[in-house]
This record gives sequence, C-alpha cells and structure tokens, in this order.
Amino acid sequence: MLVANKMNIKLYLKDVNKLTIDKNLLLSLLKISHNMFGFIPNDVQEIIENKTGLSHSYIVGVSSFYEMFQMIPTGKYQIGVCSGINCDDFHHYRLLEELEHELGIKKGHTTDDKQFTIIPQQCIGNCASAPNVTVNSKIYEKATKEDIKSIVNEYKVI
Ligand code: FES
Repeated sequence: MLVANKMNIKLYLKDVNKLTIDKNLLLSLLKISHNMFGFIPNDVQEIIENKTGLSHSYIVGVSSFYEMFQMIPTGKYQIGVCSGINCDDFHHYRLLEELEHELGIKKGHTTDDKQFTIIPQQCIGNCASAPNVTVNSKIYEKATKEDIKSIVNEYKVI
C-alpha cells in the first residue's frame, strides 16, 4: 500500500493516463486508487472529477455506496470477514466478533498502530470455500474462529 503523497498521486495519474477515460470507467478508477492507497484520497477524487467530467458529489456518492471503497486512510492490512449469504450460513459474524476481539477494534475502524483495518467484506466469489476471511488480496478459506488469532499474528509487527 502506498502513502497518498504527491509523488504517489503522480503514479496514480500515470496509470490512469494509460486508459481511455469515460464516465463508465469510474469504478475502475476507484479500484486503482483503492489498490494503490487503500482508500480514495481527495487528490484522486479531483483527478477522477477532471478526467471523467463527473461531479464531485456523484463520485463521493458512488464511492460511499460500495462498502469496499474506503474514503479515509486505512491500516497497512485490511482484514475482512465475508458477509455474503454463503459465508453467513457459516456464521460469519462469529469470526467477525473474534476478529474485533483480537484487534480491539470494531468493523470499519483502524488499530492505533495503523497496521489493521477491519473492512466490510461482501461476497468475493469464493462461496464454495465459505466462510472466507481476506487480508488485502489474500483469501483464507473455510476459516474457523480458532484461525483468526493465527491469521492476525501472521501480520502483526513483532
Ligand atoms: S458469500 Fe462469501 S465468498 Fe460468496
């Protein structure tokens, strides 16, 4: 994950300039930002506004509609417990409770050391291996409550 400073915003712009921009590309532009920075910085919102001609309020509205897009900086590791219908059948909320307990924060929040953010996670299309836990782009399949501590420990700064 990159820090959203001027230099890295230029990298975003460089990536975006490779694309043929139109209004239909909004979700792709948001995804690129999310993958680079873990959220949608104000500078990126302005770039998207200028490139697509979409209004600022529309961009913010779309970004806010999709839970996967964060509007504020997140931790280095974004952990999510899938809350889709198949993972819910396997009591995803028990995993989420364990994760919140393990990290000492609630869903949508970031630890004080900026290492972890518990993100809302919708279906990731891996339903056959429910319940799924994600850490950035890595998927932990058929996760159990007992797995949560070892997953967190994999990423903790020692
Ligand atoms: S419902 Fe969790 S991966 Fe589809």
